[in-house]
Amino acid sequence: MSIEPPPTLPDGSASSDREEAFCSACGQSFAPDLERCPNDGAKLILLGANKDSVIGRVFENRYEVRSKLGAGGMGTVYRGWQLSVDREVAIKVIDPRLASDRVTVKRFLREARLASRLSQPNIVNVYDFGQTEDGILYLVMELLKGRTLAHEQHGEPWALKRAAGVVSQLCDALESAHAQGIIHRDLKPGNIIVLDDPPGRDLIKVLDFGLAKSLAAEPHSRVTKTDTVLGTPLYMPPEQIDGKASDQRGDLYAVGCMFFELLVGHPPFQDANMHALMARHMSEPPPALPAHVPDPIAKLIHRMLAKMPEMRVQSAGEVRRTIQAALDPNAPSAPNIVRPHGATTVVDTGGATVASSISSLTQKFEYGRRTWRWCPTMFPNRCIDLINSP
Ligand SMILES: Nc1ncnc2c1ncn2[C@@H]1O[C@H](COP(=O)(O)OP(=O)(O)OP(=O)(O)O)[C@@H](O)[C@H]1O
Ligand SMILES: [Mg+2]
Repeated sequence: MSIEPPPTLPDGSASSDREEAFCSACGQSFAPDLERCPNDGAKLILLGANKDSVIGRVFENRYEVRSKLGAGGMGTVYRGWQLSVDREVAIKVIDPRLASDRVTVKRFLREARLASRLSQPNIVNVYDFGQTEDGILYLVMELLKGRTLAHEQHGEPWALKRAAGVVSQLCDALESAHAQGIIHRDLKPGNIIVLDDPPGRDLIKVLDFGLAKSLAAEPHSRVTKTDTVLGTPLYMPPEQIDGKASDQRGDLYAVGCMFFELLVGHPPFQDANMHALMARHMSEPPPALPAHVPDPIAKLIHRMLAKMPEMRVQSAGEVRRTIQAALDPNAPSAPNIVRPHGATTVVDTGGATVASSISSLTQKFEYGRRTWRWCPTMFPNRCIDLINSP
């Protein structure tokens, strides 16, 4: 009796993570306990499983690697155990080809430190990171129970309210990260987990903040771009494709692609040929949204997909407020009509630079769901919206 063919990997090769008894005469594989081929009586050759050398190891006496959760362009994620506090964790082990470059390692450690400072309900908690004595670069995170947004959506268009709920949470995550100068640079449905708990609520967590940037190949690097994190350009902003510097507005372009996909069932630009796909991002106008999508939302998505960052929506807060106003026309559309503490004008700074430079001079207060700062010395008549800034 032959065993099922080994599962196929995404690249089309066969999985080698279990043993098989192979018949060189008929080319079939059988269960590993068989000695002779049931078809032709030939002696079977036992092919061992490719053991994952990381499983079972304890990194730096602290984290035990237990089983594989999945793999992506930057490495492999394992279920693990943090020995000191007896808790389950997820451990991302960076692909050794990426970790072999000293500049990359330094950049990874720097970005990982920044990412570990992020504390926001829609961003995965990064607990720790490091490098083992034999050079394995790893990141320890909270272990999430759920499915990626890609799995959850499964190519089906979602109702506006459900899609908007997910995009609003994405904006909350981005507001917090952008205010600290952290840009994701690889936002895609595969990097977003929809949590199982609470059920039916579509609570999301964003993975891999800053990792793409830290592991991106340098022009001088031995690692080619196709080997690394370039991945799918389905959600990649034109400026990034063009090799220009991209800022937080690049993340908003990716969210625009995902918002489109959630409502339509596929991303705005598709092509089997990667270069053609990139060309579409660079020059093709985004397709129209279906007629049932309200005009303000369709306009918003098209503004998020503007080719030039200057023409794009400028901040995640602006996206969230526009969604709120479109879904609930009676809600006050923005805090810019609010004048708390005697302030007369509201400015959305839309970025972290101003935030960090004046934070020491400002007074912080809560209004609605937001945190505001007022800087009486510098802007006595203005109340500045610093969206979740530290
Ligand atoms: N903290 C976590 N908790 C639970 N599962 C996780 C966690 N982090 C990643 N995963 C899962 O591990 C798998 C591999 O993730 P990984 O980030 O390596 O791949 P990817 O997102 O497909 O590609 P990329 O390298 O481009 O991010 C994915 O299915 C992901 O959902
Ligand atoms: Mg990922």
